[in-house]
Amino acid sequence: MTNPEGADAAEPAADSTADSAAQEDAVASEANAESAAAVTMTSEDAAPGEILLRVTDLKKHFPVTKGVLKRQVAAVKAVDGLDFDVRAGETLGVVGESGCGKSTMGRLITRLLEPTHGTIEFEGRDISHLGTAGMRPLRRDVQMIFQDPYSSLNPRHPVGAIVSAPFKLQGVRPEGGVKKEVQRLLEVVGLNPEHYNRYPHEFSGGQRQRIGIARALALKPKLVVADEPVSALDVSIQAQVVNLLDDLQGELGLTYVIIAHDLSVIRHVSDRIAVMYLGKLVELTDRQSLYDGAMHPYSKALLSAVPVPDPRGKAQRGEDRILLQGDVPSPLNPPSGCRFHTRCWKATRVCKNEEPPLLQLRTGHQVACHHPENHEDQRPEDTELLSVAEKTADELDSERSAIEQRDREAVGKP
Ligand SMILES: Nc1ncnc2c1ncn2[C@@H]1O[C@H](COP(=O)(O)OP(=O)(O)O)[C@@H](O)[C@H]1O
Ligand code: SF4
Ligand SMILES: [Mg+2]
Repeated sequence: MTNPEGADAAEPAADSTADSAAQEDAVASEANAESAAAVTMTSEDAAPGEILLRVTDLKKHFPVTKGVLKRQVAAVKAVDGLDFDVRAGETLGVVGESGCGKSTMGRLITRLLEPTHGTIEFEGRDISHLGTAGMRPLRRDVQMIFQDPYSSLNPRHPVGAIVSAPFKLQGVRPEGGVKKEVQRLLEVVGLNPEHYNRYPHEFSGGQRQRIGIARALALKPKLVVADEPVSALDVSIQAQVVNLLDDLQGELGLTYVIIAHDLSVIRHVSDRIAVMYLGKLVELTDRQSLYDGAMHPYSKALLSAVPVPDPRGKAQRGEDRILLQGDVPSPLNPPSGCRFHTRCWKATRVCKNEEPPLLQLRTGHQVACHHPENHEDQRPEDTELLSVAEKTADELDSERSAIEQRDREAVGKP
């Protein structure tokens, strides 16, 4: 038995390596940046509530190759057809168990990865396949905060150099000079501006993540994608960093996509929440609708694992806690039909055979499920539970074997 919260308590070690690799990529892609004069935005600023980012049928399939000729033999379908918008000024929380494609999605929308399929539009402009030069102006507007504040900061550089790197890379000279601006940024994120010359190892995990946030905010981005921004931190520090992100959003008018493996991190800050499972969105709605009436069984399971501060509420939730069966299937070979059918207690034959489309079942509430919770059944004619149907087949098999064994024994064969 696996519960969705516990299943992801420890991120694979490879993830942090990937974070620093992505960070290196981001820096490398900017390494040849030219003067500030060359940096101009071509698009109009999105007003609050307007669509800042639009993602359509976005896919990332990592090829699995074999032999010296590197023949592709399979593909890891890390992200397999996402459709969503991010509106200016909002926080979109993206949640799902480890391996469901959240980081890949974050790297796609910040264009640290090239999509296999689909489009990413930022302020109405298609950025899906922009090269390094085309992306350079956008690197100012779209920033990423990584999970691991240890590997994402270069240990050989003092904090001043780390936070001022974006100015140098983009050739931007802030009013009053770079040092003054960096010190101001350090203060904004709650660090002592006098610590400008200190090295990352002299700071705690929470302080390092604040340095990462200061670096991400240096060029006044419009969109900040934060990939598990607090999951490497002590629980006692997590709330402080989450609150900092929340405060900065109000002060600076930022738009966030915050990725987390459990709902407890993003429940307070998200305006809308997207629930991902095996490369797909299964539910997307505003926070209140999700908490008051999640419609996808997987979302219900995730919610049931979230600790509730009120002890009475906790006890009540505890009784309803849904423990998911088994592990997340491999994205190399995802299950047929609804990808969640191998773990869903409501699965019927139609779930195994037909993929449920992501439909708007209520205003602003999209769900991909044949038999949603808190809503009328989309396939009421399909009533036989898969667990019952498959159990019957198993029982028939064992009955048949028992009869064969009895027949063999009757004729004296072992
Ligand atoms: N560069 C890569 N090459 C091959 N597979 C990858 C790569 N990056 C991620 N994956 C795979 O894609 C799936 C989704 O990974 P990821 O986006 O990191 O998920 P999450 O952030 O939700 O834990 C995983 O199965 C992971 O092993
Ligand atoms: S479509 Fe079927 S298997 Fe998938 S979540 Fe809904 S009820 Fe469960
Ligand atoms: Mg991840």
